[in-house]
Amino acid sequence: MAGYTNLPFRTLIRMIAPGVDYTVTELINARSLIEKNPEALRLIALSEEDTPCGVQLFGNVIQEMAEAARIAEIHGASFIDINMGCPAPKIFKNGGGSALLAQPELALRLVEAVVHAVKIPVTVKMRLGVELDSLIAPGLANKFQETGIQSITVHGRYRSQGFSGNISLDGIAAVVQAASKISVFANGDVTTLENARLMLERTGASGLSIGRGALYNPWIFKEIKENSAINPSFQDRLEFMIRNLEVLCELCGEKSACCQFRKIAPFYTRRMGPSREVNRQISQCTSLAQFHQIVEQYSKERLRFLDDTGELKHSYQPRPVHSTLDQHIEAATFSKRKG
Ligand SMILES: Cc1cc2nc3c(=O)[nH]c(=O)nc-3n(C[C@H](O)[C@H](O)[C@H](O)COP(=O)(O)O)c2cc1C
Repeated sequence: MAGYTNLPFRTLIRMIAPGVDYTVTELINARSLIEKNPEALRLIALSEEDTPCGVQLFGNVIQEMAEAARIAEIHGASFIDINMGCPAPKIFKNGGGSALLAQPELALRLVEAVVHAVKIPVTVKMRLGVELDSLIAPGLANKFQETGIQSITVHGRYRSQGFSGNISLDGIAAVVQAASKISVFANGDVTTLENARLMLERTGASGLSIGRGALYNPWIFKEIKENSAINPSFQDRLEFMIRNLEVLCELCGEKSACCQFRKIAPFYTRRMGPSREVNRQISQCTSLAQFHQIVEQYSKERLRFLDDTGELKHSYQPRPVHSTLDQHIEAATFSKRKG
């Protein structure tokens, strides 16, 4: 996820969840990589600890995508992931990301060219289509599976939905069926062990791809792998957050890391209890030392929200993260009760 799932985050995730099968970089502009743009080179930073990791590329010029894939392969990418899901206007208007779904011929030739350009596996990340209920993905996925790609990850939404609105389980299931010769991973709104199970059961997918759920709950991969819910303590969450910033500082320098962390931290603090004030302070933080002071102070102030057992008092407990998948679980529970 652009701006979030950087190398430090991915490395830390693997430390607490050894079961993660693979990770993928944030999306990288193929042309920028060819031009050795410093930002693209930062995004392509890989490490042994975070392996296998795919490099995700976006673009709509076939030769550029093939050339960028070769560069990523030389850089040590475990695989190349082609982005056909990004809805951002900046990328969509230039024909990249989810815009490729509306150009099936071009999309197919582009995938073929990337597969031929590298020796490492190639995967595709896609959405269901561009406009709501205009299902494009199954037909495309059916053709993609003949190109030699290894797998497809499908986000069960249309471009017009952005990142909210219902996930279409049927839409994902249709992609799974249409591309039955390869692995299809289901993506969208997986935030708990329960809705992970539902996603797998209802779509028949080979596995899951998780984005925001990993920020809300970095332990989610371990939970799914071990099929057992984990309830990380406040201290566990705090340590993960601090370590994330420390490693980000090592990679990007203190000032830039603190700046980037302003939008990452609220995902973590949201699960810790009342967080408005700590988020405000983090949004002004410019150094690691200052960050340590902020969280130390926060840990002390948080005590007043705890009950005698050391848990957050009921009224201060964070609300569960909303997932549109939960409505299916509720419906199933309701009909069971009725029956
Ligand atoms: C801020 C943000 C950045 C994202 N960046 C990327 C990206 O770089 N590449 C990509 O394939 N998907 C990206 N996504 C989409 C997610 O990977 C995922 O498909 C989508 O959020 C639904 O899954 P989730 O509910 O597990 O997050 C991004 C999503 C968000 C919210």
